Amino acid sequence: MQRIYLVGFMGSGKSTVAKALAKVSKMSMFDLDKVIEQKAGQRISDIFYAHGEAFFRKLEHDALLETTKQTGIISTGGGIVEREDNRNILSQQYVVFLETAWTEIVERLKDDQERPLWHQDLEVKKQLFDHRQVLYKEVSQFVINTTYRSPENIAQAILENI
Ligand code: S3P
Repeated sequence: MQRIYLVGFMGSGKSTVAKALAKVSKMSMFDLDKVIEQKAGQRISDIFYAHGEAFFRKLEHDALLETTKQTGIISTGGGIVEREDNRNILSQQYVVFLETAWTEIVERLKDDQERPLWHQDLEVKKQLFDHRQVLYKEVSQFVINTTYRSPENIAQAILENI
């Protein structure tokens, strides 16, 4: 397996699981949000506020495309499935969906100040969550429920499924 992509909603633990998976698999790891921040020289929230979401999605798409030429574990942002061209790219890769219950997401992100799309009404976020669950399932080969499991345990389960 050359590349393993992790998808899931904000707060589903993609970055943490990616780190654990990189450790056990001895593969390198890329956090797409970090790659975008380094390239843009700006934090994700600043990119959103200064240039808007569509601009961020373009940077995200370019960064995703770049990863298809690399080898490693790739942790994506929760909105990676919003663009159809991204879904087409992901559909040709090995993708794991970290499925986390809505109540768990709300609990984990209750004090979050960093994520621009978390700063909206709860109903709007819940709609986004429901809408995306379908898309995550559509692009993934393996779905793993993250509730009650440690990042190390999830990483092990992913490795065993390859
Ligand atoms: C986003 C999720 C974030 C980040 C950006 C947009 C989204 O990543 O890419 O704030 O649309 O859900 P995480 O899923 O790592 O929080």
